[in-house]
Amino acid sequence: MTDPKTFRIKSFGCQMNVYDGERMAELMAKQGLTAAPEGEDADLVVLNTCHIREKAAEKAYSDVGRLKREDGSRPMVALAGCVAQAEGAEAQRRSDMIDIVVGPQAYHRLPDLVAEAQKGKRPVDTDMPAISKFDAMPARKTVGPSAFLTVQEGCDKFCTYCVVPYTRGAEISRPWGDIVNEALSLVERGAREITLLGQNVSAWSGIDEKGREGGLELLVRRLAKIDGLERIRYTTSHPADMDEGLIAAHSEVEKLMPYLHLPVQAGSDRILKAMNRSHTAESYLKLLDRFRAARPDMAISGDFIVGFPGETEEDFQETLAIVDAVGYASAYSFKYSARPGTPAAEMEGAVDAHVMDDRLQRLQARLSAHSLAFNRSKVGETMSILIDRKGKRPGQMIGKSPWLQSVFAETDAPIGTMLEVEILEALPNSLGGRVLRQEVAA
Ligand code: 5AD
Ligand code: SF4
Repeated sequence: MTDPKTFRIKSFGCQMNVYDGERMAELMAKQGLTAAPEGEDADLVVLNTCHIREKAAEKAYSDVGRLKREDGSRPMVALAGCVAQAEGAEAQRRSDMIDIVVGPQAYHRLPDLVAEAQKGKRPVDTDMPAISKFDAMPARKTVGPSAFLTVQEGCDKFCTYCVVPYTRGAEISRPWGDIVNEALSLVERGAREITLLGQNVSAWSGIDEKGREGGLELLVRRLAKIDGLERIRYTTSHPADMDEGLIAAHSEVEKLMPYLHLPVQAGSDRILKAMNRSHTAESYLKLLDRFRAARPDMAISGDFIVGFPGETEEDFQETLAIVDAVGYASAYSFKYSARPGTPAAEMEGAVDAHVMDDRLQRLQARLSAHSLAFNRSKVGETMSILIDRKGKRPGQMIGKSPWLQSVFAETDAPIGTMLEVEILEALPNSLGGRVLRQEVAA
């Protein structure tokens, strides 16, 4: 195989994969490779895969197959991410187009693996080394106004349907100093908003410069002191790890945005128990009450699964009931998908595919009604938005509200500007506003 000169990284799935993809791109750039322009062939293609739902592996293999060019040649192919972790060497038995298999905890070794592949080897690295991959990564380069920063990885919760504890491994927290340094460097390079990422981000723990041990709250309070950083967010949280300190931070730290992604998955206690979720519908609602007491305008977002084994219509009605009780600003909802190796895959009571489709539709209709209601509640309000992209129409830009809504407005303000807008209209997935002022805080 010849020296790759250009590369392309395709990331699927969660924000952590997006972050990992960005870091791999930086690593490749440091090796002297350039990103292949849109529409042009790349010499090396990295498929950064997601394993969360069914047919993930099949999808990855068909994506690999499609990399074959019309003239019969193909790029060097690296299978990365969670499918790579789960399949390991099996991936290369199933497809002779896969030169490299690299798991999410090993991608700092990508340059070595590429060098091995050049020599005709087919390296597989799905190790989960104790030493942090982040230590081996180059510093962040150019970044947009809104940046991701991984602070925690892995999960010890073992929800019975989920592959993450197996693909991403046990919960580990990145050290305090590394995170603070990366945040400082992101802000220096133009980030005004940072989203702290982790599969269970609120399980982050560490020791600060003064030797104090603390959780996510301590980190948020430290990052809030960075000049030029205007907004802090975090995702995803598990109800079991939300502590008093973090709740208090929402009322005390102005830069911490009033938005909480707190998946509930289902509204029936019987199903929650079978899912091994360690919370009930009621304890979840009580927790949200505490957040809302600290920050009354808190927007809540969630994840839902319909059709978990044994879910009856009555159970599903309880999911709809919790949706109404919370009034979600936004949500992701999925049909249950049996993942080999997880306890739920062995459970009886599979829900019929049509029933699942029907429940998903009803749930999504209910969730959309709530997000539209939430958007409508902002009409007439004045708020800050952080411009992050161009709008569809000429002269239009789009920015994010504190509650993570997309707000479009007529303005010539460039990407990265913080504007004050008055909201004039609400749509299901966005708001329309009129600019009042440029360069405001948070
Ligand atoms: N089937 C369907 N949805 C799932 N999720 C995780 N595992 C499964 C599965 N086996 C959903 C959960 C989780 C989100 C990231 O993906 O809702 O919060
Ligand atoms: Fe999966 Fe549950 Fe861990 Fe979330 S908390 S990553 S759903 S096991």
